[in-house]
Amino acid sequence: MCGIVGYIGSRPVLAVLLEGLRRLEYRGYDSAGVVFWEGETLKAIKSKGKVYNLEEKIYQEKLNPSSPGLGHTRWATHGEPSEFNAHPHFDCEKKIAVVHNGIIENYYDLKKFLKEKGHKFISETDTEVVAHLIEECLRETPTFFHAFMRAINLLEGAFALACISLEEPDKIYVARWQSPLVVGFGEGENFIASDIPALLSFTRRVIYLDDGEWGVITKDRAHFYDFHGNTREKLVHYVSWDLASAEKGGFPHFMLKEIYEQPEALKQTLLGRLNLSQKRIDFYYDGLSPEFFNNLERIYLVACGTSYHACLVGKYLWEKVVPWPIEVEIASEFRYRQTPLHERSLLVVLSQSGETADTLACVKIAKARGAKVLSICNVVGSSIARESDVVLYTQAGPEISVASTKAFTSQVLMLIMLSVFFAELFHSSSVEETVKALINLPSQTKMLLDKVHPFIREVAIEWHGASNFLYLGRNILYPIALEGALKLKEISYIHAEGYAAGEMKHGPIALVDEKFPIILLTAKELGIIHEKTISNAEEIKARRGPLLVLTTEGTSELADKCNAIFYLPSTIYALIPILYVIPLQLLAYEIANFKGCDIDKPRNLAKSVTVE
Ligand code: M6R
Repeated sequence: MCGIVGYIGSRPVLAVLLEGLRRLEYRGYDSAGVVFWEGETLKAIKSKGKVYNLEEKIYQEKLNPSSPGLGHTRWATHGEPSEFNAHPHFDCEKKIAVVHNGIIENYYDLKKFLKEKGHKFISETDTEVVAHLIEECLRETPTFFHAFMRAINLLEGAFALACISLEEPDKIYVARWQSPLVVGFGEGENFIASDIPALLSFTRRVIYLDDGEWGVITKDRAHFYDFHGNTREKLVHYVSWDLASAEKGGFPHFMLKEIYEQPEALKQTLLGRLNLSQKRIDFYYDGLSPEFFNNLERIYLVACGTSYHACLVGKYLWEKVVPWPIEVEIASEFRYRQTPLHERSLLVVLSQSGETADTLACVKIAKARGAKVLSICNVVGSSIARESDVVLYTQAGPEISVASTKAFTSQVLMLIMLSVFFAELFHSSSVEETVKALINLPSQTKMLLDKVHPFIREVAIEWHGASNFLYLGRNILYPIALEGALKLKEISYIHAEGYAAGEMKHGPIALVDEKFPIILLTAKELGIIHEKTISNAEEIKARRGPLLVLTTEGTSELADKCNAIFYLPSTIYALIPILYVIPLQLLAYEIANFKGCDIDKPRNLAKSVTVE
């Protein structure tokens, strides 16, 4: 997820671009850049880090800037955060400048093709391919208009693009496929941006590009087309949000926004790995080959907090398909144990930030003892990613809220994809059903969010005054019970525990009374395990514990044993954790909201724990 801004008109172009970038910084903050007209050339200024670094750099230069201009704040997906990889990116002649949000899925093949044609690349990004591709298309088409249209038709993946060129001095070209882009209208000036906050200081009249649309923007007009070149009529909307709520996309908190971003985060994480034509998963573009897993004896899944819960899910998934034993460890414990690590061990670490001190220490220890390290991180170029032999990036985009939500579901998705990869590698089970379910997962989670949220709000109204909560689940729902409890305690400050439901009668049952809400997770897809969980519901009912049950459609036997019940869509085993954690994230959020807690920045907690 990156931020794009563009301007054409007579205001000071850099002032408009920097104001827009500051407003978009929540979308990405590892590097930033601008490009604008300076005399007869396109001038770019880029810097690593936050927008103020770019600002300082700009103020140190003697410039004579004019519009059109583009700005970009980056959240890396391909290539480390650096000035080289910061946008804008140019063609060989520095005549075409491009900024981009999204992932060009076929960039590798395009880059190969363009290199064969003599194009020279200077960055590791997927975006640079676009500038060279337009340049290449210009060789074969009469106008820039046609070259741009041809180029966007050759791109696969997700993109919001903006482009300026020496060929067309008074125009900004834009295109959208699966990444947002808006155009803002002024008097004798126009704006483009990936999100509304960048525009609100200047205009409230906007149009939203739809997927498969592109446009040409001048200071007085804007023309829109589909990818075949047919004209599109667009409706102008009036935005009434204030700036603060606009940055959160209209949501009151980043946490809620990020919960609702999960369908998109899942979609982005699938991109480039889910091979739709062959109905299989591969990690070709991540550089992960089957040979990486040769000669292994044991796998350790290691992480902290929410990422540790994802590791636990991984164990349930992987032990069905791989031939090695799998150990799951908390990083702060693992680093001080005398685990027999050697060249036949594989350490798999999970970290949203890629900077968690304990997890990073485990990586270093494992490497020092000759073990292989595979990391699953959300932040490109982070310390853990750099230290690993192979890194698989979740593509959840920046997670601002301290409570991790979309990073968790994207991590679990990565573990599911790896389980499919292993199943094929070891012929341990058929993958067709899982791949089919993965294709539908983003839309399924979107529907679930809409349906479950009003239900959860009602539960929160009733229960937000309780002082203790217990979350119970078995098998693959046990880690989800742990995660549900962690979410509640960290943002609402209510004491909550997650337990394996089968352990209830070994202790926690002593706590059950009419003031002790229990959330019981089960799914008919768990077969005999589901039957066992029904007995837990009986035991809780007998002790008058207020009980919320989450189960799957087609189970009627629990309705009379609880105070509230929600039926999730029936699904395959692997996808159960992703679907079930969503209502629990919402429950924590709604309860914390009723209590008036500082949801995005809970007391005593930091987003990234870089000290021991
Ligand atoms: O960045 P990481 O995934 O390595 O962070 C690990 C934990 O600190 C993190 O998951 C923490 O537990 C979250 N606040 C949970 O919401």
